[in-house]
Amino acid sequence: MADDTSSAVEPTVYPPSAESTARSVTPATVYDDARSDRLGYWAEQARKLHWDAPFESVLDWSRAPFAKWFADGSINVSYNCLDRHVIAGNGDRVALHWEGEPGDSRSITYAELTAEVKRAANLLTALGVRQGDRVAIYLPLIPEAVVAMLAVARIGAVHSVVFGGFSAESLRARIDDAEAKLVITADGGYRKGRISSLKPAVDAALEGSAGTVEHVLVVHRAWDDGAELAWEHGRDLWWHDEMAQVDADHEARAFEAENPLFILYTSGTTGKPKGILHTSGGYLTQASTTHRQVFDLHPESDVYWCTADIGWITGHSYVVYGPLANGATQVIYEGTPDTPHPGRWWELIQKYGVTIFYTAPTAIRSFMKAGREIPESFDLSSLRILGSVGEPINPEAWRWYRQVIGADTTPIVDTWWQTETGGIMISPLPGITATKPGAAQTPIPGITAAVVDDSGTPLEEGAGLLAITEPWPGMLRGIWGDPDRFVETYWSKFADVEGGPWYFAGDGARLDGDGDIWLLGRVDDVMNVSGHRLSTAEIESSLVDHRWVAEAAVVGASDETTGQAVVAFVIVKKRHRQTATEEGVDELRHHVASQIGAIARPRNIYIVDELPKTRSGKIMRRLLRDLAEGREVGDTTTLADTTVMQVISDSVGGD
Ligand code: PRX
Repeated sequence: MADDTSSAVEPTVYPPSAESTARSVTPATVYDDARSDRLGYWAEQARKLHWDAPFESVLDWSRAPFAKWFADGSINVSYNCLDRHVIAGNGDRVALHWEGEPGDSRSITYAELTAEVKRAANLLTALGVRQGDRVAIYLPLIPEAVVAMLAVARIGAVHSVVFGGFSAESLRARIDDAEAKLVITADGGYRKGRISSLKPAVDAALEGSAGTVEHVLVVHRAWDDGAELAWEHGRDLWWHDEMAQVDADHEARAFEAENPLFILYTSGTTGKPKGILHTSGGYLTQASTTHRQVFDLHPESDVYWCTADIGWITGHSYVVYGPLANGATQVIYEGTPDTPHPGRWWELIQKYGVTIFYTAPTAIRSFMKAGREIPESFDLSSLRILGSVGEPINPEAWRWYRQVIGADTTPIVDTWWQTETGGIMISPLPGITATKPGAAQTPIPGITAAVVDDSGTPLEEGAGLLAITEPWPGMLRGIWGDPDRFVETYWSKFADVEGGPWYFAGDGARLDGDGDIWLLGRVDDVMNVSGHRLSTAEIESSLVDHRWVAEAAVVGASDETTGQAVVAFVIVKKRHRQTATEEGVDELRHHVASQIGAIARPRNIYIVDELPKTRSGKIMRRLLRDLAEGREVGDTTTLADTTVMQVISDSVGGD
């Protein structure tokens, strides 16, 4: 790294400062309280929300692993994020300081956001959207994205947000799987100084889709010069035209706590993304509780900024639902960190006086590379707490984050969780935990986890698999349309342990002598590139779909900046060998990017003659990973043909 900090003389543990302990919203006794009465603790947290009908039942686990939390209570998620704060007298508080990439900005109060969402709820109803209907949202990070999500939630419908960087084909698969009735999109959004178009991708997705979509609502964000957009009359509607025609008043009605709130697709070990289903009361309880505790939120004075896009779970739980349920003031930013200059993020922290900042290790590592003089030329003294999410943070990056961004005083919370968990599960708490660079440390109050061996026996110390040993309020309730896959993927590995079933997270972890948890990365065929989950199988099937390709194997190889990078090994059909030159490799990389999205574009593609397979025909990715990471190739004795690795290694070397 260009701008490293030496760890030899650095402390290995950073105790909380007296000041952070004094101002903590959470008392240190919280762990004991939660341990002595776990369900009572979660009930107490849930009661901080507004319930139209209070719940009696906290957890129903009688049909495990299908859980119900607060099942006899009723709640409106959108009311909790909006109206409640206005009624409490905080309508003038800014909810969103939005910053567009080109430099345009809007500050929106809770009263204004509530008014917009009420209108949008009326609009959705007018378009025939009802409780339980699915609405796909494919938008840049603009205020309308938040409005759309909260409006869908307000009428008891289910949103499926699709990251704007995903291709038309990925969007179509998600629209069809959820049988969406409506798509909300924009003409385009700003990324890296250019307009990236969205509506044309929706048009392409709907061509050849299953035909469930009745309308496409289009927010006007880009092309003030009126670029030509294809328009299907009767189907396509401008958001601003429609919003102007509906009533401004809307009373939120309550839905049962287990009413589905959203589906969010994420990559698994097969080629088909999984629609992770979350419901209302339990999810909102965990999102708001963790947001308050982990970031020590003081809503009347803090300015919070999470850099995630709403297309990911972090954007759902820690841009939309957690912060808004807590009445926080936050910054949201449409664009990329380096546009129009490499100090854009630090400039925004200075401009808005951000106190709590939450981002991913990949971003931190790329700032390290660019050099500390960039953040050092901005005033970052407002920062009080720094968070990390999405991938393991290496101790060097952790220390750099604390020293250069946090003036060597801010606590760092390294938060481990997943799309499936809905909210943070393992993290230090500022003001309470003595933090360790590189460790996510201990489960938050009310969560129980263990590091276990392959048979599910908990380890006292050492490396194993991460399991969650009791149900939690924000847990996924299923995979959309595929209950068997839900049971098989998450609950079958530790189904028979005492007190089970336990949830298998898919992550390796190490427990140290102090009982702290260190995450070691995925143990399945899921990669983590810049904190985003990608499936090896999905990229392999995209490659094989190309007419040149006979076979493909994809691995996640470690990468200094992005954590892991996609590396593909491809066998080209004999008749296309000639064409598979340098240019051919670019064509294949482009093919993957256009089929799945730019995040899936392989860093390297090696054209090889063979792939390493066991006698039963299974590809041994472990050996390919050794090659991709430039290591000595490991044990090859289980290969059907042990000379294969030499052949592959020769062709990779000569690439
Ligand atoms: O491998 C873990 C890694 O990201 C995976 C979850 O990915 P996703 O569902 O996309 O959610 C990302 C944002 C919550 C996990 O299985 N991961 C997430 N946070 C951490 C992490 N690995 C190490 N440390 C973390 N703090």
